[in-house]
Amino acid sequence: MQNNFEHSVKKIMSLKEFKKKILCIGAGYVGGPTMTVIANKCPEYKVTVVDISKPRIDAWNSEELPIYEIGLKERVLSSRGKNLFFSTDVDKEIEEADIIFVAVHTPTKTFGEGAGRAADLQFIEKTARRIKAVARTPKIVVEKSTLPVRAAETLATILHSGEHEVRFEILSNPEFMAEGTAIQDMEHPDRILIGYNESESGRLARDELMNVYLNWVPREKLITTNLWSSELSKLVSNAFLAQRISSINSIAALCEETEADVVEVANAVGKDSRIGSKFLRAGVGFGGSCFRKDILHLAYLCEYYGLIEVARFWEQVVTLNDYQIGRFVKQILQAMFNTLVGKKIALFGYAFKPDTSDTRDAPAGYICHHLLKEKAKLSIVDPYALDNARTELPGDEGIEFEKDPYKAIQGAHAIALVTEWDCFRDLDYKRIFSEMEKPAFIFDGRNLLNHQALFDIGFNVYAVGKPPRSHL
Ligand code: UDX
Repeated sequence: MQNNFEHSVKKIMSLKEFKKKILCIGAGYVGGPTMTVIANKCPEYKVTVVDISKPRIDAWNSEELPIYEIGLKERVLSSRGKNLFFSTDVDKEIEEADIIFVAVHTPTKTFGEGAGRAADLQFIEKTARRIKAVARTPKIVVEKSTLPVRAAETLATILHSGEHEVRFEILSNPEFMAEGTAIQDMEHPDRILIGYNESESGRLARDELMNVYLNWVPREKLITTNLWSSELSKLVSNAFLAQRISSINSIAALCEETEADVVEVANAVGKDSRIGSKFLRAGVGFGGSCFRKDILHLAYLCEYYGLIEVARFWEQVVTLNDYQIGRFVKQILQAMFNTLVGKKIALFGYAFKPDTSDTRDAPAGYICHHLLKEKAKLSIVDPYALDNARTELPGDEGIEFEKDPYKAIQGAHAIALVTEWDCFRDLDYKRIFSEMEKPAFIFDGRNLLNHQALFDIGFNVYAVGKPPRSHL
């Protein structure tokens, strides 16, 4: 009791000392890590993250955070209760805040006009209406979620509609954090982008947000643009990255026909400093929560403005990704004598990339569905993503979930490697070979393994964009 009281007094006293109050609406993959770093780096700001989900907020207040990111937990623990707070009291926190970040999700619409492509903005709109209903003092509202261009205009229109007296200034400040490296990306960003409205109050708001970042980001890394450029740059960054993957994957298909090796080609091409070496790893295709969604949003946006050819150009990046996933499955089918009925395939990896348990839009999901259609039996191995895999895949008799790869391969006809977890690199493949059905196949969808060594053990080895090594 005494402790609680002391705690509350301390809290009230410390509130008075804070220079500014920052609020983030949405305690997910973006809001949580971003605000944690801001709180770490700006001790004189009070940073609160709110969410309507109580279990999520409870988790942020516990020892078991709701998401895993390298370095996140230590950083949460060092600021939580001092200047970093997690709460479900959305209204109270809105009223208190000077700067409100909006980091709610903007999934692809699943219904009505633009279904499957346009951004679903219902959560953004609901948030704007909430802010408008509650706020009694002027606020800076910062778009953190990835939004279609000119979404800031919609936000402003909602916030200023009706009789409301309070003025809001909208800024766009997209995040560029990749999962697995979110903290690193936020602490050492390539750039921080701030879009603002060219007006007296717009400039003041811009400076206010710049002052937050200047606590740890060098001035030359802060880029300020107009609102629309900032919103569009986020979509374009993701589209360009995904385009590079689709480009190299398209060349992988050509390599397989011509006995060129895509790793060698990517290396040679990437050495050109104008091109650079990143995002040129051929594989089973990109996944994750951003790329497909953002490219489809971009294409939809182009179509909305009547730019049909531009829309088709970007859609092709996604089409190629689907093609790449389909090609991987076709290769498995063809190599294994055109039938998979009743054959066991051990799927190495389910997460959309290593070092995360996230399986959103993971190629593995599509691959499993295709393989199940061919009536294959699956044994799925992943160090962190098995719980997600279980909820995503049908409760079929034909699927096993295994933490231990040595169990998963018992009696398997093939291994399909779809996520390049390090732990798959150093397995005892001699032992694995001896415990599999023969002929034994390995399909290395990420070019992770030592193909010559596997071939020498006796495997028939198929990799992406490389000539197959087969004993058959
Ligand atoms: C991405 C962007 O990198 C980030 O800036 C943005 O804010 C959110 O989207 P993320 O989805 O976390 O981040 O992962 P990323 O590391 O970019 O990888 C995306 C996908 O591309 C993964 O499935 C990965 O396996 C695949 N990929 C990446 C390749 O297939 N080849 C490559 O060379 C690089």
